[in-house]
Amino acid sequence: MTPSAIVTGGAGFIGSHVVDALIGEGYAVTVIDDLSSGDALRVAKEADLRELDIVDLRALETVFSEVQPRAIFHLAAQASVVASVENPGRDCEVNVQGTLNVVQAAGKCGALVVFTSTGGALYGDDAPMPTREDRIPAPLSPYGASKWAAEAYVKTWSLSSGIPHAVCRLGNVYGPRQSPHGEAGVVSIFTHHLHTGQTPTLYGHGSPTRDYVYVADVVNALLAASGRSGTYNVATGVETEVATVWSELSNVAGKRIEPELADLRPGELKHSRLDVSLAERELGWRAEVPIAEGLRLTYEALVAEFERG
Ligand SMILES: NC(=O)c1ccc[n+]([C@@H]2O[C@H](COP(=O)([O-])OP(=O)(O)OC[C@H]3O[C@@H](n4cnc5c(N)ncnc54)[C@H](O)[C@@H]3O)[C@@H](O)[C@H]2O)c1
Repeated sequence: MTPSAIVTGGAGFIGSHVVDALIGEGYAVTVIDDLSSGDALRVAKEADLRELDIVDLRALETVFSEVQPRAIFHLAAQASVVASVENPGRDCEVNVQGTLNVVQAAGKCGALVVFTSTGGALYGDDAPMPTREDRIPAPLSPYGASKWAAEAYVKTWSLSSGIPHAVCRLGNVYGPRQSPHGEAGVVSIFTHHLHTGQTPTLYGHGSPTRDYVYVADVVNALLAASGRSGTYNVATGVETEVATVWSELSNVAGKRIEPELADLRPGELKHSRLDVSLAERELGWRAEVPIAEGLRLTYEALVAEFERG
């Protein structure tokens, strides 16, 4: 019998790559997405897209009981730090209540859940680097707080049901299909600026560092985490300055544009680098794509996407 999986947020940047990988592994895939930041065109035609809000428990349960999934990959989220500062109530509703709804609906069909939390927005600025998973979170934004609360529900439901659910705390993910129109996702934003000849703004004057991880590596980690009950950082363990990302992409593009410099925005971290040794030990996973190669692959793919319109 064909195994089935549900991907919430499967019309989003990372979720759409998870959908493709699961189809490649022989799964029948159902996508749950309200298309608030996602795009139906990103969803593989073999997948069954259901447009609904994860805050609606009854609608969620109807789809889960129909599909009877073996595995859930829960990526649907209000994923913007800036939006979470502007509207913390909606951030909480989607990220906390929505996640509780997903684990409740999953419990009724005995499905394994993998939840995508954040490694970048959770640990705060005072955490030692590289930051391990056992560091007590100190989020600077409502988004970090809602992801932490959601993690607690995922873990509690796993403990009480005996079904292993995993939490993956992602670094700064980049790659093809990332939208350049949000406030995050500098690789995509910078690529768009280079392609259209616009001047970018480097917040924090270009000096903040992030642990950038290529989307294909993230997908491999999420698949490896299904059926595990741990909390794993999913990143590279390498930090790169925002200014370096800009200059490397400029080299790939063969263009020179002088960026504008500005202060960090509210809720944004100065530095982030995650310890990835637990995922290496327990999942047998490590990121394979070095940043220089990932930036080149992403630049080429995104420019082709922009030109297709
Ligand atoms: N991109 C990153 O660097 C990064 C880093 C850490 C964690 N994450 C997490 O990974 C996941 C995917 O992120 P992404 O970058 O692909 O973001 P994205 O915005 O591209 O994808 C999120 C998807 O969820 C959908 N969605 C939002 N609210 C919904 C709701 N109420 N009901 C149903 N669907 C809803 C959106 O339409 C979208 O398709 C998110 O949980 C995010 O918090 C991302």
